[in-house]
Amino acid sequence: MTEKYFIPSEYQNQIEKGEVTWKSPSNIALIKYWGKEANQIPANPSISFTLNACATTTNLKFTRRKERGTEFSIDLFFEGKRKEDFKPKIITFLERVEEYLPFLKQYHFIIETSNSFPHSSGIASSASGLSALALGLMSLEKELNPKMTEEFFVKKASFLARLGSGSAARSIEGDLVEWGAHNGIENSSNLHAIKYPYAVHSVFKKYHDTILLVDKGQKEVSSTVGHNLMHGHPFSQQRFKQAHGNLTKLKGVFEKGDLKTFIEIVESEALTLHAMMMTSLPYFVLMKPNTLEIINKIWEFRKKTNSNVCFTLDAGANVHVLYPESEKDVIFQFIKDELVAFCQNGQYICDRIGFGAKKM
Ligand code: PMV
Repeated sequence: MTEKYFIPSEYQNQIEKGEVTWKSPSNIALIKYWGKEANQIPANPSISFTLNACATTTNLKFTRRKERGTEFSIDLFFEGKRKEDFKPKIITFLERVEEYLPFLKQYHFIIETSNSFPHSSGIASSASGLSALALGLMSLEKELNPKMTEEFFVKKASFLARLGSGSAARSIEGDLVEWGAHNGIENSSNLHAIKYPYAVHSVFKKYHDTILLVDKGQKEVSSTVGHNLMHGHPFSQQRFKQAHGNLTKLKGVFEKGDLKTFIEIVESEALTLHAMMMTSLPYFVLMKPNTLEIINKIWEFRKKTNSNVCFTLDAGANVHVLYPESEKDVIFQFIKDELVAFCQNGQYICDRIGFGAKKM
């Protein structure tokens, strides 16, 4: 399959106006995507848990213009307020996807969007936000072409979301989603994500993710800059190889429910992501002292209790604490007693594995 697969032929219908709302979740990568080629082609495959509570809801209203415009026509509202400063990002996204959605300049769009998590929580909203918008645009395309299959709809939504923000490709479905070509995963693709197609042990079915908000500031390094630093990075080739290897290992882990190896892979991936940032030029440290305090507390607790709690990190200081349903009471108590003290203003978000975006 190439990108051409997503270029539509003539539409059957003409739609004057309408609206649609999608709620799309965030996701947390277990194998990290860090490094990309042009057009958001990932340098290595990644896999994530889809989240449930952290989500963006986007209402998209569309009205056909009298004449096709030469520019995009959008009004943008974030949490009820007009948001001009988000526009450039949206326009860039529309430019990237226009080839695949040739109707875009034919319509005026009103985009109203809100997040379930606080904007300044340091939680990236690009995965949930861009997947929600991609889904809205797909709903319009489906009205223009009602014969579109559900399978194509989902695939193309992921394909479009990817062009907005790579990790957004993994936010369309749940509960375990893979993106990027990998030898051992049939139908895996660099162009769009897929639902993980193999056996997954029940221990992974109701996994919890408590997100500890260590630093709620804006990201110090945009992910675009971060990804680009993997070009010419002294360890990049080895890192990309490692991601392939870790994904191969995870296949067995998911099948057997091997939590010990799961923890080892997931924590190593998180630390490798940060190690890549620390060893690029320019170099960055995105962890804060409290990030390390939390990691050490988790390791101490695990040693003492033989628990299966573990952590992962995004490109920031917040810590995602991952644990299975069967241990939730004990671990949540541990989080409240020992970890919340390291959060900014004691803030954290209780999330868990989710099943993908929903049309509202
Ligand atoms: O989707 P982007 O371009 O913001 O990249 C996100 C990369 C990480 O969150 C650090 C890792 C991942 O795979 O989600």
